[in-house]
Amino acid sequence: MRRLFCFFLILSALAVKAQNPSQPSWLSDAVFYQIYPSSYQDTDGNGIGDIAGIISRLDYIKSIGVNAIWLNPVYVSGWTDGGYDVIDFYRVDKRFGTNSDLVELINQAHERGIKIVMDLVAGHSSDQCEWFLQSKEAPNLRYSDYYIWPSFKPDGGYASLLSKFVATDAPRGPYYIKNFFDTQPALNFGFANPDPTHPWEQAVDAPGPMAMRRELKNIISFWMDKGVDGFRVDMAASLVKNDPDKSATIKLWKDDLMKWFGQEYPEGVLIAEWFNPAQSIEAGFDLDFFCHDGQYNYSSLFFFNNRRRPGAGSAPSGPYFDEAGNGGLKEWYDLYTYQYDAVKGKGYVCMPTGNHDFNRLCTEGRTKPEDLKVAMTFLLTMPGVPFIYYGDEIGLKQNPKAPSTDGSGFRAGCRIPMLWDGTANAGFSTAPIEKIYIPQDPDPNRMTVEKAEADPKSLLNYVRGLLKLRSEHPALGADASWRLVSFLDNPYPMVYERVKDGERCYVVINPSAKEVSVTVAPENNKPQLIGGFYKKCTYKQNRSGAAVISISPVSAAIFKF
Ligand code: NOJ
Repeated sequence: MRRLFCFFLILSALAVKAQNPSQPSWLSDAVFYQIYPSSYQDTDGNGIGDIAGIISRLDYIKSIGVNAIWLNPVYVSGWTDGGYDVIDFYRVDKRFGTNSDLVELINQAHERGIKIVMDLVAGHSSDQCEWFLQSKEAPNLRYSDYYIWPSFKPDGGYASLLSKFVATDAPRGPYYIKNFFDTQPALNFGFANPDPTHPWEQAVDAPGPMAMRRELKNIISFWMDKGVDGFRVDMAASLVKNDPDKSATIKLWKDDLMKWFGQEYPEGVLIAEWFNPAQSIEAGFDLDFFCHDGQYNYSSLFFFNNRRRPGAGSAPSGPYFDEAGNGGLKEWYDLYTYQYDAVKGKGYVCMPTGNHDFNRLCTEGRTKPEDLKVAMTFLLTMPGVPFIYYGDEIGLKQNPKAPSTDGSGFRAGCRIPMLWDGTANAGFSTAPIEKIYIPQDPDPNRMTVEKAEADPKSLLNYVRGLLKLRSEHPALGADASWRLVSFLDNPYPMVYERVKDGERCYVVINPSAKEVSVTVAPENNKPQLIGGFYKKCTYKQNRSGAAVISISPVSAAIFKF
């Protein structure tokens, strides 16, 4: 009887935990830390970070309060696009170490309760990859059909794909189709509606694209069987060509790759880089990003001009998270709620603190620790799985002058090496300063992990506290419901409600330099302040019975009812 009782207890705990039964059981409590490996910690003195360096920092990583790591690509690469031009999908690049080093990282991370997620570059390879080298020679070799070789440039009706035609003098030329840079030929997963007058357009289930899928599964298995916990899938929406509504790409993932993955690796996670959760969750992904890119993005919250919504109009008066307090919430709210409502209960919309493709949080006018604490309170108390981009926990600053490195272009500014301590190169590397991967902030007062550790009021310690609070309160977690309580036409402060398992919280966010207040519907009981960063934050009933929430400048607070 007692055994039976325990069994039911476990069953019901699982039922509460897993938001969606097809998602890995650990995901709803996951907090990710993204590492761009070239910039984290160098151990061999060549000025570039490596896997041994990440292993040496695992205790620090754990101390932040995260329990999963997403690594940007570590495969053998031509380094024309930060590792996203993969030469050998089955081998770790020697700049980082060996496959055995990666297995060691996986094991050491697991010992500490940390999951490891790799980057899966599913849509393209490097032009130096042996598959491409063979494919460009002749049409009937093993890898010939892994790529797409248009024999002419069609007129009209093909606009978006035409920009991806690359002229080549290879025997299979005159063109191949790329995905991003010319050095990244697209892998051939077929075309949505092959045009019989375009002989290079193979059907999604033609032998070539089917062989490509088998190869992709092989790559996934190779690393999953070594112990990784899943993948972030680069340009996951790009696989099937001429698929404007993405229905064929969704079908490919959903009906084949996802079914297979779910059966083989039920505890593995697949994270989409799709920037449209409504589509990617439908395709079977566990979560997708809502950040700087695509139609759905959060740029109006954080940036003046950095990739705002296409067609969003003239330059904004300023981002929401700015002390000037001139920003708005409507643009973000409309896009976010569309996505949130579309995937609620099925998968997660995730707003990362940053990533390797756009400006860091600590940029433009938002460089004070107080500003960053307010932004972090927002990012770490919204629904979905949090992602902290390495260094954001100490306020690592965007370097707008960083020279393009490994094909980064302007993105070098957010890929700067980590700042650890007061030793040479801030403890990142013992190499001479001119060999450091990307120049570090030369400011002698620059924040380092060592300084942040020593200051109880540092951003780092604030983030630790927030993550602890989040883990202790179901209402602040990934699955708790979300609702905007404040008003779009009076955007400061932003107040939202989170509810889960009978617990209810209000999060109050005021990035502006003014004290602000908002009048909201009254509640039966008075809430208690349980966290945040503020000089003053009050919740009072006014004479007509409504509740007035007031908060000091540059502040954030969390109430629990
Ligand atoms: C998205 C990646 O995040 C980015 O860094 C890369 O350049 C492109 N995909 C192409 O792989």
